[in-house]
Parts: sequence; structure tokens; C-alpha cells
Amino acid sequence: MFPPLLLLQGAFLFGAVCSMPTSKKLFGEIKSPNYPKPYPDNNISTWGISVPKGFKVKLNFWQFDLEPSEACMYDYVKITANKKDLGRYCGQQGSTTGNHPGGKELLSTGNHMRLLFHSDFSNEENGANIFYKGFLAYYQAVDLDECALGNDLEDGPPQCQHFCHNYVGGYFCSCQPGYRLQSDRHSCQVDCSNELFTEPSGYLSSPGYPQPYPADMQCNYSIRVETGLLITLKFLEPFEIDDHQQVHCPYDQLKIQVGREEIGEFCGTVSPGSIETKGSSVDILFHTDDSGYSRGWKIRYSTERISCPQPVPNDEFTIIRDLQPIYRYQDYFIVTCTTGYKLMEGDKKLASFTSVCQDDGTWHRPMPQCEIVNCGGPKILDNGAFDYGTEPRINNYLSVVTYRCNEPYYRLLNKGGVTYTCSAQGSWKDQDDHEDIPVCLPVCGRPDNPIAEIQRIIDGRDAPRGSFPWQAKTFVYGRGGGALLGDRWILTAAHTLYPKGQEESEKAESPEQVIEKARVFLGHTEVNEIIRLGNQPVRRLFVHADYNPDNEENFDGDIALIELQDPVTLGRDMLPICLPDPGNDTFYVQGWMGYASGFGVEKNILASRLRYAPIPVARQSHCQEWLKGKKISDKDPVFTANMFCAGSPHEGKDTCQGDSGGAFAVRDPENGRWVVTGIVSWGIGCGKGYGFYTKVINYLDWIKGIVGKDWASMQVSY
Ligand SMILES: *[C@@H]1O[C@H](CO)[C@@H](O)[C@H](O)[C@H]1NC(C)=O
Ligand SMILES: *[C@@H]1O[C@H](CO)[C@@H](O)[C@H](O)[C@H]1NC(C)=O
Ligand SMILES: *[C@@H]1O[C@H](CO)[C@@H](O)[C@H](O)[C@H]1NC(C)=O
Repeated sequence: MFPPLLLLQGAFLFGAVCSMPTSKKLFGEIKSPNYPKPYPDNNISTWGISVPKGFKVKLNFWQFDLEPSEACMYDYVKITANKKDLGRYCGQQGSTTGNHPGGKELLSTGNHMRLLFHSDFSNEENGANIFYKGFLAYYQAVDLDECALGNDLEDGPPQCQHFCHNYVGGYFCSCQPGYRLQSDRHSCQVDCSNELFTEPSGYLSSPGYPQPYPADMQCNYSIRVETGLLITLKFLEPFEIDDHQQVHCPYDQLKIQVGREEIGEFCGTVSPGSIETKGSSVDILFHTDDSGYSRGWKIRYSTERISCPQPVPNDEFTIIRDLQPIYRYQDYFIVTCTTGYKLMEGDKKLASFTSVCQDDGTWHRPMPQCEIVNCGGPKILDNGAFDYGTEPRINNYLSVVTYRCNEPYYRLLNKGGVTYTCSAQGSWKDQDDHEDIPVCLPVCGRPDNPIAEIQRIIDGRDAPRGSFPWQAKTFVYGRGGGALLGDRWILTAAHTLYPKGQEESEKAESPEQVIEKARVFLGHTEVNEIIRLGNQPVRRLFVHADYNPDNEENFDGDIALIELQDPVTLGRDMLPICLPDPGNDTFYVQGWMGYASGFGVEKNILASRLRYAPIPVARQSHCQEWLKGKKISDKDPVFTANMFCAGSPHEGKDTCQGDSGGAFAVRDPENGRWVVTGIVSWGIGCGKGYGFYTKVINYLDWIKGIVGKDWASMQVSY
């Protein structure tokens, strides 16, 4: 079998050139001169046979026929290898003289063999020339076991320090465990100065353990694991390091360093056991001197994640979710607060909180605080107030406030009071989870000081304060009146805004111009006082579509609404009047006593204080009769179903200019509230008969359509 070609080629390079042209072949033949004819006399020929290094030469003869002689004195073949004689041959097969090689295999010890042929001057026997044929030999390369002891190699036997391994055409050396083959490829040394371990666990030991360790070593075993992991060393048995009775570790030492700090030096036969290094970078330094016979040591190292301090809540409202018995590197905890408390990091409110255990064993974020939720001050209720239902009066979670309205002028619709609680979300909420606070609605028709007298019909009298608190004094084209509905609407007569019988030039005022002009006063019975209180700015005007200022004799549709810019604040001197219930004509029957009030003309001068007069509803047919023959601007006045009349042609009590637009108010005997049934509209002269009033009950839908959402605020009474 041939060795791999590559190895052979390498080996050829080291070959040596010999005398005869036999190159480094793996096989070949060698013949005596002139073979197969008889060889010449007096001839000396030599052959140097070389095979590639790592092989030796095997030679044997196929033909051998030389002159036999005693001790092969005359003709012979001499074979040497590595200066060693392998034999001197002559003779013929079966001859008793000479030394015939027969089938012998001749082996060199190295990769060279030398063959010398010698013939003397003649070949004769018994005087006759005899011819000998010579020889034919074949050689071949056969493997040399370099590792075998007793090999007599030219360049000496292999010096494998530990182990030698032969292969066809060569050999290699190897070392015992813990040793490393050096660059000379033969010697073995412990190379332990730079051993690195990066796995989270593993084993390390002195070279050759548990066999005695070598001398003169400077070993450095470094364990380097991820920061955040702590290394624990566990020494296994046996443990044995050269020691001395008196001096501590004078010969060999095992030192353990964590970072730059030495945490132990060991020797002797007592195992250090287990060592928690508390580091992620550990060097194990093993130093041996030139003598000793100890078995060494072995360590199993393992790692464990660094632990962080157990999290401790700052207060009893802090909840640590899924608390673990121990927290290690990369573990985290989540903090929440009990209901009604919020997470605070310093002054900052947090939506959530997580802290992670870092590789140095500290938390990346300190424990937060849980602070009670604060709802802030409750919303301010217009025309109302709130009272705390809990002590102390603070706005914290579960604090309670109750809203109430400024009674008796305002009321919560259908409720006495509404309670709100400070929720965990930080807002005040009622029982139904609503945040909207209630609204205080005006209470209509409840004067503080109502006119109670049922008296004989006389001329008007001064109205006491608080008796007609809905009374408005208007000024557009002249003095007029109105009645407060809700807290920002004035019910009045259309003709106070767009009077009848105007000159063409004075007409055609745009609504904006009228709004600009309009002055509305509320809140007192004295003209001076009411003016001093100030004018209520107007936002919009609404005049009924049926009202026609050009039709002087027909006041149908004489109704208007003035919307104030802002709601007024109700009180004793300023309160709304109620509207009649739809479809109930009770207050329009003959004889029902109503009260007209106003700042109008009295004894031919404008009144300086509010006056009122009780006026009974008249029989409508009498008024119709009474109107017959009377004229307004030469035309017959029109009395429609949207009007009613009150008063008497026999009594001197009536409304007059300046009262226009004011309320005709009645007191509902059922519940004592005051209701506006009419608006002072028109008459013929003052105090000279019947007065005519806009029939408010006919216009409820119109009013509702205009005031919209304020309609509800006009329905509240006791
Ligand atoms: C031996 O014989 C060979 C072949 O015939 C020849 O080349 C050589 O010169 C001879 N050597 C001597 C010393 O005669
Ligand atoms: C051991 O090896 C480590 C890593 O290479 C090195 O940081 C340390 O300085 C070495 N110690 C000694 C004493 O050589
Ligand atoms: C109409 O109103 C009066 C006064 O409040 C009341 O007495 C009467 O019962 C009402 N009529 C109807 C039909 O509701």
C-alpha cells in the first residue's frame, strides 16, 4: 500500500543524491553489468538506493549467479545500509561454497541502501573459463516505523516527548492531556498561562489532574462571564497542592483573583470547598516550583444572576405586583397603587411603573410613591353652591360634595340636591358616573311679597318691592314694559319694538338697529333705582309674524320676545313669572282677577315708581259691544281670538301708555304661583273702559319654538 502522495512529495525534498543513477523511487531493479549476459571481469559497480524519507528499502534477488568462493573472496555483492553491513554474497543457487542470498529479504534501517558489485580478473575453474550470469535484484520502499524502539535512523530516533504515532511514510508526536505540543512538534509543555472560560459554567483543573501536575508552571485560568452573573467555584476532591508545615504555601500556590482583588491563596490537602466570588471576572493563578509530587485540583464553576435588594413599598397604598422572593439581574417588578391613589415619581405623575434589576445589583428606578387622588375643587354651580359631605373639607378620593341651588329663587329640576364623589379617576362624579354638574333653574311665579288683597277696584297703587319681581322696564320708542321668563327672556308686546302708525321715515329700522336702541331694566320698583342698576344688553329680538305695524286698528299677534345677552341673577327683586298651562282656559273666564303693573302714564305724567292695578277679566261679548262705533285712525278696531279684554267701562282703572308689554298676571289658586295670561296691548284712551291684552296661552308653541332649551327653565315652580 502506498502512502498518500502529498506526504511523499514532502518527503522527497529531504532526499540525498547517491553515486549511481538511482533516484528516489518507491521501487526499482538493479542488474549486474551486462546482465543477462555474463558480467565482465575486473568490474566494480556501486548503487545507492534511496527511497523517500519515512520508508526503508527492502531488497531481494530474483537471479543470483556469481562465482562462488570461500568467504566470497573473488566476486561478490556487498550490501550496506547506514554504515551497517547487511551481507556479502556470492555463489550459485544450491552451491556449497560462497554465500548465496537465496530468497532473503534485505532491509535497510533508514531510507538508503548501498550495493557494491565486485568481480576479479578471471572466472575460471579447473583451467576453463566459466561464465556467470550475474544478478537481478528488485527493491521497494516499505514503511518505516519511526516510533519503534531500536531503530537505527540516520538522523537519530524521533524525540517525541510523550507519545509517538507512526503512519506510512512518517510519524507524529502527541502529548498527555493538559500539555501542549510545542512548535518543534516533538516536545510537550503545559501551556496554561492564557486559558479563557466564557461559558456560564464549566470545569477547570491543574494539568494532568488527578495525576501529579508538572513543575515550573505559571498558569492563568480566566473566567469571563456576562456582567450581572456571579461566579461560584466549587473545588472537587481530591485536592492536593505542595505545602510546608510552617510557611504558608511556599512552593506551589493557587490564587484566586476577582478583578484586581485577591480573595484567596490555597495549598495543602484541605479543599477550600465552595467559594462565592461575587464577581463576573475571575482569574485562577496556579504557580508551581521545580519540584513536588501533588495531584492538583479541579474546580467546577457555575454562575448565578446577581440579585437586587428586595423592593419595599414606601407606603401602605403601594402594591408590588406578583412579588417574588428574590429578584435577580434582568428581573423586574411592577408597581400599582390601591384604588384612589396615583403613582408619583417626585412631582411627576406616572401612568405605570416598572423597575429592572441591573447588572450591578441595583434597581434602575427607585420605588415610587402612591398619593391619594385629588379631584381639585368641585365645579362652581351658577346660582347654587356645594357643601362637603365629608370632613375634612378636602378634594381627595372619596370626598363627597352636595350641590344645592339658591332657594327659593332657583331649584334643581325634580331634585333637592345632587351628591358628587371624588372618583379614583380624579374627577367628581354622581351616582350615575356623570361628571356634568346639575343646573339651577329659575323658579317662576313666586314673588317674595305677593299682592294678596282682593280689594275694591280703585285707581292704581304703588307696588311694594318684591310683589311684581318679573316687571321689566323697556325703552325702545318710548317707555314700555315686559315680563321676565326664565332668567334671560323678556316677554313683551310687539308694538313696543315696532310701534303702529310710524311715519315712513321712522320705519324700516333693521332688527340690528332696534337691538342697538333697546334698553331693558330689571330689579326695582323705583324708576331711578332700576335705571341705576343698569341696562341688560340684548342679544336678539323675536316679533310674531302676525304682527303688522301698518295695521293700526288691528293688534293681532302683538307679542315679542327679547333675548338678553346674559342670564340675570334672580333674587327678591328679580324673578320670572310662569307661563299658563297649555289648554287650560281657567284664567280667562270672566271675573278672574288679574294684576297689571307698569311704569306707565299716571295722571298724565310718567310714573316714577312701579304701579299696579287689579283688573278683572271682562265678558268678551261686552267688550265687542263696547267697541262698536269706536275708531282707531278712523278705522274699526279689530278684536281677535288672540286677545282678551279686562276692566270695566265704569271704573277708572286701566292700563295706559308706558304700560304696554307688561304682564297681566294672575295668581293660581291651586298652588299660589303667578302666571302671565296677558300682555298689555291696546285700548281706547286710558282709564276710560276696557283694556285689551294679548292672549298668551295662544302663543305657547311660538314661545317654545323660540326659547328652545330654555323652555325647561320656564317650567320650574313649587
Ligand atoms: C563495469 O562495467 C560497466 C558496464 O559494462 C562499465 O560501464 C564500467 O566502466 C565497468 N567498471 C570498471 C571499473 O571497469
Ligand atoms: C490573567 O489573564 C487575564 C486575562 O487575559 C489578565 O487580565 C490577567 O492580568 C492575567 N493575570 C496575570 C497575573 O497574568
Ligand atoms: C286648570 O288650572 C286650574 C288652576 O290651576 C286648575 O284648578 C284646573 O284643575 C285646571 N284644569 C285642568 C283641566 O287641568
